[in-house]
This record gives sequence, C-alpha cells and structure tokens, in this order.
Amino acid sequence: MQIVDRQFDAYQSFVLGCKLFWTNRMFPELYALYRHRAEELARRTGRAPAGAEDVSTLLDGDPLAASFGWMERHLQRMKYSGRWGLAPVHARQRDTIEAELAEPVGDILTLDPNFRQPDYYTAVDIHQHPGGVWSDSIAGYVYERGARTTTPTLQRDLDLHYRFTNLVVGMHKPRRLLDMGCGFGKSTRPFYETVRDADVVGIDLAEPCLRLAARDAVSAQARNVRFMQKDASKTGLGDGQFDVVTSTMLLHEMPPPVIRDLIAESYRLLEPGGVAVHLDFLPPDDPFLTYVHYGHGRRNNEPYMEPLAKMDVVGAMKASGFRNVRAMPFEEAPGALAAAGQRWRFPWTVIVGEKPV
Ligand SMILES: C[S@@+](CC[C@H](N)C(=O)[O-])C[C@H]1O[C@@H](n2cnc3c(N)ncnc32)[C@H](O)[C@@H]1O
Repeated sequence: MQIVDRQFDAYQSFVLGCKLFWTNRMFPELYALYRHRAEELARRTGRAPAGAEDVSTLLDGDPLAASFGWMERHLQRMKYSGRWGLAPVHARQRDTIEAELAEPVGDILTLDPNFRQPDYYTAVDIHQHPGGVWSDSIAGYVYERGARTTTPTLQRDLDLHYRFTNLVVGMHKPRRLLDMGCGFGKSTRPFYETVRDADVVGIDLAEPCLRLAARDAVSAQARNVRFMQKDASKTGLGDGQFDVVTSTMLLHEMPPPVIRDLIAESYRLLEPGGVAVHLDFLPPDDPFLTYVHYGHGRRNNEPYMEPLAKMDVVGAMKASGFRNVRAMPFEEAPGALAAAGQRWRFPWTVIVGEKPV
C-alpha cells in the first residue's frame, strides 16, 4: 500500500532534508570542533582523548554538540509521531492495511499463536517507533516506510542489502540459508531473488513484519522462501539444517547474553563447513566516532547498541566453536569508506565465522 498524500510527503521530505543537513553539514562541523579541542588539550596536557567519555567532557555544553544531539533525537521523533508522522498516518489507513494483510499467502508464513515476546524486546520502543515493530498490525508498514529514509535505496545494486548479499554469496553460495531477524523481509529478499535455487528462511519475533515479508514474497512470485515467527536465540529448528546463517542489523537490538545465545544457536543450526555472517555496527577505534555512535544509540532508543560495541563479539563466536572468525568494515555504498568522517554514517561491520568440518 502506497500512501498518497501531499502533506504527508511534504512533512516527511522536510524531516529527511533536516536529517541530511545533520548528516552532511552538522556532523563534519562537530568533528572539526572536536579535533580543534583535542589539539588544545594535547598542547595543554600532552594527553589525547582516550574514549567516548573524554569526548563528552570536551564537547558537552557546546551549542553545536547540543543541537547535534537535539536534531537527531527530535527528527526521529518527528518522523514517527505527530499529525504527519509515520505511525498516525498509517493508523488512519488501518482498514486498508489490515485488508491487504488478510489476503492469503499460503504456506509461506508460519506464525505461532502462543508466541511470547522476550522482555528485553518489549521494554523499549525501538527506533522511537511507537509500540515498536511488533505490537500493532500496521507496524510492518510503518517500519517499511521509515526504513526507506534510514537506508534509502537509490539503485538496486547500490542498496546495502544487495551489497551484503553479494558479499555473502561470494564467500559461500548458499543452498539453505537462514536470515535471522528478517524484519519485513528487506534483508531476505536479495537472497531469495539472487540465489533462486537456494531455500531461504526468514525468522523474526514481529508478526506484523513477517506478514508484510510474506506478502511481498508472494507478490514477487518467490518459490524458494518461507517466513517463521521465531526467536533467533532459541529457534527450536533442527541441528545442521543450514549452510549459511545471516543477520542484518539484529545483534545491536539484543543484550549481550542474548547475543551469546544467538551465536550458540547459529552454530547448532549450521552444518559442518557452514558459515555465519552478521552485518551490524561496531565503531572503529576513534573516540569521536564512538561518542557519536553511543549517542545515536541513546537518542534513537537503541539501548543495546553500546553494549554490543563494548562486548567482544569475535571472542564470543570463537568461544562457541567458530573458526576463522573475523570482523571487517563493510562498505554500504560505493566510496562510503573513503568518505568516512566527511559525513555521518553507521559503523557498518561484517562479522564472519566458519563451523569446522
Ligand atoms: C533493525 S531490524 C532489521 C530487519 C532486517 N534484517 C533488515 O535488514 O531490514 C531488527 C529486527 O530484528 C528483530 N528481532 C529482535 N530480536 C529478535 C530475536 N530475538 N529473534 C528474531 N528477531 C529479532 C526485530 O523484530 C526486527 O525486525
């Protein structure tokens, strides 16, 4: 369903325009201010900022730093809430959305009527999405529309999900792939479209997202995908069923103990020789970028972002039995790594591990 409303479009374009100003103009200015203050500190004390807390000490109270934080927090609120925010606008289309979701999708979708959401998940309105992505039937549509301006798809081969798919397929062409935390299917679709002879399974906690993912797969006439309502840290699926397990933007939405369970679960689900590939956010060794990343987690209602960055996820994979474990920067768009620091970007990182034969 496409919402056609000029006032809604105008409002959302305004919010996006402000976000691009924040990304392309405010971020480099704040970075320059930080470098200036860090140089002053070095001249005075011979010391360089060692971490995000030191950067806070240098910048907090500065009007640029304050408005940088304010803009990020409140632009995200404006995107979702208020008269032309994504949540109320979609709520006004509830009947149409629910009618679309009621159309049969066959056996592509398995929901669990007794499913109990984990407490860590229901405790927070993730991304400032009112009610999160799970509690309202329209939530998948709200999330899908919101994601278009979080990671906008300019051209198919430029989209980060297709770039990630190409990377995974280049490492290990899947025969049976599990996409953990598939959301409304944006990370699953490139796999079932690109590797038509692979069986692809997407799992997520959120029924409204899974319903939209299944609907899209039916529209795309996909024959090689299924979606299931499952907790990725304890799926109940059989041992060794997959040769590739992936996740995209899932780990930073879970507390570290659940991440460790997910890693152990992915090891169990893989056949010997299989690979786990996770795309997520780990800030580089740069105090300013770490400070901005932790601030993003707080301002965007993503409380597990900082704990993921602080945990040793590579070590956790090794401890679960994975071999040849590595974490490497991921270039989400052509030239993005070369331009890092000139504009804000997520610290995209790919984490890979192999299950020994
Ligand atoms: C940021 S979204 C990413 C969705 C999708 N992978 C994408 O790239 O568009 C994270 C997803 O993880 C799901 N999720 C969070 N905890 C989960 C868990 N324990 N098991 C399965 N899915 C989970 C959320 O419901 C949400 O749909």
